[in-house]
Amino acid sequence: GAPVEADVSKLAAGEMMTVEWRGKPVWILRRTAEMLASLEGHEPRLVDPASVEPQQPDYAANRHRSINPEYLVVIGICTHLGCSPSEKFAPGAASGIGEDWPGGFLCPCHGSIFDLAGRVFLSQPAPTNLEIPPHRWLSASLVLIG
Ligand code: FES
Repeated sequence: GAPVEADVSKLAAGEMMTVEWRGKPVWILRRTAEMLASLEGHEPRLVDPASVEPQQPDYAANRHRSINPEYLVVIGICTHLGCSPSEKFAPGAASGIGEDWPGGFLCPCHGSIFDLAGRVFLSQPAPTNLEIPPHRWLSASLVLIG
């Protein structure tokens, strides 16, 4: 499939948009400073906090799993059986993760929970972090996916 350009200039901090690439939903989440700061706290409870598994290009093998920390670019397909997780930014008991959880993504099919870098928590059905597609920034607000 052809690469897809996404213009993030209208995305406010904390907002997410979806573009389609190769028939897959690609989420672009503009993370606030608070969201980014939260990524460190729950790392002991993640399967692959340092992004060792090849679920992303080398340039996104870091804590925030992105080139520009502010923008997460991730394929919105659960690594368990391929359902589409939903945004679940609010912390809460229903997540089973605890009140200190800053939010992330929840898969409706079997309940896998991912953080705001698409990293899966321990003891979830999904075995690996969400996949980061190949991408590069053409300008500060234009990203090319694929
Ligand atoms: Fe997402 Fe099973 S498909 S938890």
